Amino acid sequence: MHPELKTKLGSLHTRNPILTASGCYGYGEEYSDVADAVHLGGIVTKSISPVRWYGNSPPRLAETGTGLINSIGLANVGADSFKTEIAPRLKSVNTKIIVSIAGKTIDDYELVVQKLEDANNIDGYELNISCPNVKEGGMAFSQNPSITEKLVKRVRKLTKRWIAAKLTPNVTKISEGALAAEAGGADAVSLINTLVGMAVDYRSRSPKIATITGGYSGPPVKPIALAKVWEVYNAVKIPIIGIGGITTWQDVLEFMIVGASAVQIGTALFTDPQLPEKINKRLIQYLEEEEIGAICEIIGTLRTDRPYNLGVPG
Ligand SMILES: Cc1cc2nc3c(=O)[nH]c(=O)nc-3n(C[C@H](O)[C@H](O)[C@H](O)COP(=O)(O)O)c2cc1C
Repeated sequence: MHPELKTKLGSLHTRNPILTASGCYGYGEEYSDVADAVHLGGIVTKSISPVRWYGNSPPRLAETGTGLINSIGLANVGADSFKTEIAPRLKSVNTKIIVSIAGKTIDDYELVVQKLEDANNIDGYELNISCPNVKEGGMAFSQNPSITEKLVKRVRKLTKRWIAAKLTPNVTKISEGALAAEAGGADAVSLINTLVGMAVDYRSRSPKIATITGGYSGPPVKPIALAKVWEVYNAVKIPIIGIGGITTWQDVLEFMIVGASAVQIGTALFTDPQLPEKINKRLIQYLEEEEIGAICEIIGTLRTDRPYNLGVPG
């Protein structure tokens, strides 16, 4: 029998556990020439604000080892253009479409939802309350559990669509933010957004991006993201979407083992937009070899009774 890749994020059901992360796959249609969306569980769009934002001044990307620092600053077309020009075309994109929302105030999030409520081809919203690259709002929302709860509650009142809150790892206890999102009525939590990071050119003694610090992503953040997902899995009942440094099928399994019901891939898509298709093929192969009927059986199966390193303390 063919193993099942389907997963459930509360009321949102996806054909496989791999979604694209916000800001790394455009608005959903840009990649259609190079990768077929039929291989995706879903697409999370670039974050949309009430009006067009131009983002930060360049340079706003710096590669650092196998990681990436960005300070894009949520440049996007704004809710009206998204609704009238882009959303109608997403009908031809054969996967679930989650619109990421950004704002400077709670009112901004409400405004975007109000503008998009009667737009077609939208399966849910991801509230980006965790961007480290903007002066107002951004990750400050996710760093304050009472604001997180209030913001989610206010958006929840405006829509019956599925809502996820995207959390920042730039806190001491991410589970407090996750519990707040759950209390506010979120259907799921997505984590992690980028870590605050910095890249410096020693010759010129200058920062490599104009905002000096930016958001760090890519393979090096994976261990941090896994620890955050595990912490949240032990705190909330709502499903978790794991994000951070995923580049291989083994990475996907690791996130699911520590409690994620699905994952998002970001930085790795810049190198290979067909990665989700390749990963899904290998996941099927793995499930067949291990005689596991459905990938959902893997969720939250971390064995804490069997540590690998029982060696002599150092
Ligand atoms: C260039 C770039 C732009 C991003 N833009 C957004 C964004 O608009 N909204 C958002 O919620 N996250 C944004 N992110 C964060 C990613 O969605 C993701 O949470 C993060 O990069 C960690 O995953 P990764 O290591 O797989 O990239 C962006 C990341 C990058 C690298």
